[in-house]
Amino acid sequence: MAMLQRIERVLEASLVGAEAKGSPPKLGQAMRHAVFPGGARIRPQLCMAVALACGDDDPSLSESYGAALELMHCASLVHDDLPCFDDADLRRGQPSVHKAYGERLAVLAGDALIVLAFRTLVGCKPKHLERLPELTAMLDQSVGPPFGIVAGQAWECESHAVLAEYQRAKTGSLFTAATAGGAAAAGMDPFAWKTLGDCLGEAYQVADDIRDVVGDVSLLGKPAGQDQTHDRPSAATLLGLDGAVALFDRLMQQAIESIPACHGAAKLRGLVMQESQRLVPTEGPHKVERRSSLYS
Ligand code: IPE
Ligand code: IPE
Ligand code: MG
Ligand code: MG
Repeated sequence: MAMLQRIERVLEASLVGAEAKGSPPKLGQAMRHAVFPGGARIRPQLCMAVALACGDDDPSLSESYGAALELMHCASLVHDDLPCFDDADLRRGQPSVHKAYGERLAVLAGDALIVLAFRTLVGCKPKHLERLPELTAMLDQSVGPPFGIVAGQAWECESHAVLAEYQRAKTGSLFTAATAGGAAAAGMDPFAWKTLGDCLGEAYQVADDIRDVVGDVSLLGKPAGQDQTHDRPSAATLLGLDGAVALFDRLMQQAIESIPACHGAAKLRGLVMQESQRLVPTEGPHKVERRSSLYS
């Protein structure tokens, strides 16, 4: 079965479990609204691609871990869109969860998705049960303080934040958890895959900052110009648009070069290049001009 289908199947099964009879119906609906239809599903795809490159000898474990990462990501978006954070009405081309269900249910749906992420991972039936504690710890670290998403979002409440630390925590942490965890789920050394996640995570947030400036609502499926509106630290503000694009290109190149030699390396390189074109294209109608050289 294709990677994306495997992920969607696990996500669906997890949601159905949370919508059981006796649970408040609107909570389940709000959670479903946050997860389906999905966005790019890049984190679980990356996780599965690394697991496959490492032999994927425990598919139930790799797909459950990948789905858990996506549930954490969806939870973070629900909370990120709330009026007390970015106050965004649109997400993935549809009303954000608080717009559709109200703020109280959005807070609760985000909370419930975080719990569901852990439940999805620890409730799976792996062949290699001994791999679960390490994966659970990776999931925990990618979300909790001191360096996970929660810490990243909390930097916005401080008077001073270092851009790289802020972005590494709010976005990079899940990417590193995706690559390192994908390897660990297949019984391989997670450390060898950490640089790929680090580079991609940073590149992804730099791309988000660029797209926030050059993109529009119809392309993004979410509001543009948010970083300026909320005075958020942003690579485009700090480095200028050209500098941010050059940094993005450099990080993507580093990501490709960091892929360890393995039988799935070519496929992974293809996935990274495809993402690079999707996020900050060098050609086509949404092409972003390159004015600085790649290694400047
Ligand atoms: C959006 O992530 C938030 C960031 C960390 C940049 P994605 O761009 O992966 O969002 P979806 O899942 O595709 O909607
Ligand atoms: C979101 O960061 C990262 C999260 C932890 C949710 P942003 O606020 O920059 O992402 P978008 O632009 O709303 O997707
Ligand atoms: Mg935000
Ligand atoms: Mg936001």
